[in-house]
Amino acid sequence: MTSELKLDPWGHVSVKDYGRLMETFGIKPFKNILPKISQISEPNRYMRRGIIFGHRDFDKRVIEPLSKGEPVALLTGFMPSGKFHFGHKLTADQIIYYQKLGVKVHIVIADAEAYAVRKMDRKKAIEIGLYEYIANLIALGLDPAKAVFYFQTNHKTPYYRLIQLFSRKVTMAEMEAIYGTMEPSKVMAALTQAADILHVQLEEFGGYKNVIVPVGADQDPHLRLSRDLADRFHNELGLERPASTYHMLQRGLDGDKMSSSRPEATIFLTDPPEVARTKLMRALTGGRATVEEQRKLGAEPWKCTVYDFYMFQLIEDDRELQKIYDDCVSGRLLCGHCKRNAWSLLEKFLEEHRKKLEKAKDVVLKYVEPPKF
Ligand code: TRP
Ligand code: SF4
Repeated sequence: MTSELKLDPWGHVSVKDYGRLMETFGIKPFKNILPKISQISEPNRYMRRGIIFGHRDFDKRVIEPLSKGEPVALLTGFMPSGKFHFGHKLTADQIIYYQKLGVKVHIVIADAEAYAVRKMDRKKAIEIGLYEYIANLIALGLDPAKAVFYFQTNHKTPYYRLIQLFSRKVTMAEMEAIYGTMEPSKVMAALTQAADILHVQLEEFGGYKNVIVPVGADQDPHLRLSRDLADRFHNELGLERPASTYHMLQRGLDGDKMSSSRPEATIFLTDPPEVARTKLMRALTGGRATVEEQRKLGAEPWKCTVYDFYMFQLIEDDRELQKIYDDCVSGRLLCGHCKRNAWSLLEKFLEEHRKKLEKAKDVVLKYVEPPKF
């Protein structure tokens, strides 16, 4: 086993080699179960395009129960550490997709983690949780009346009881094997996230035995811990292993990490049009040095962050996407023109989104109780 590969959910590593990741940690290729999705629905574009590249137990915990009409719950979370950007939208779209299939959606705002591990100011994290994350989810189409939202520091008692019980059946050595060097803040954050992932199985929270956790690949350590804990508490609490899916992260506009802390390379859903336009127009492409060269050799969409935008966000129809790809590699399409096309799609989206977001902000407090301090 090639096993220096260690994922650090609190670090800034970006996962480049998804194949090796699957091999090392036993994540299964999502494409193998893609044909089975038709039993429950059309696959979404992240599934079709291999952006969701891996899973654990998706067939057993999602496809099988849903095709039999049995209940399934989804649990995923956001660390309220910065503004909501298109990387977050990738998770949001998946949540909405599952909600439409009748899956009961639970969203956690990881304010405890943001405070302890990211050293965020409490007030700010709570504000961002409400008016960036929850509001944007609603604006994107999540039905808040059918979803459960909570803050890690403000949930019901049995959720905290889990954290306390979990602490007995895990050793420091196991944690360090999963996460690297640990310290109290990270131990708490890890056990809290395990409680997030597993608590919906308790009677008090709906007693869902089939749970799906869609996340970016960097979160897999938390899934491994949660699955181990589920095994260890199977007899005592009746916990089952949760299923998970893993998506690739969309790169930022300079080809590096998309992140709230890198605003020049990251488009936020609240960026004013001029700001978003400037960012997109400066984006790294796979174009050639000169127009002549590009006409002759074609460009390289696999290196292009504008193409990423089309693939992840802007184009739903696979044939339309294929055409951009073909026109790009053949040299028929030039980058200036291509970027303007991308901008007109993005501009339209941002404009409509802005209106929905204003409305969503007004209703957020109807659906979640923020912590008082
Ligand atoms: N750690 C996640 C992040 O950094 C947030 C999170 C907290 C989460 N609890 C979760 C994600 C449970 C998925 C499931 O964004
Ligand atoms: Fe990217 Fe479009 Fe240029 Fe191709 S033509 S490299 S997709 S910007």
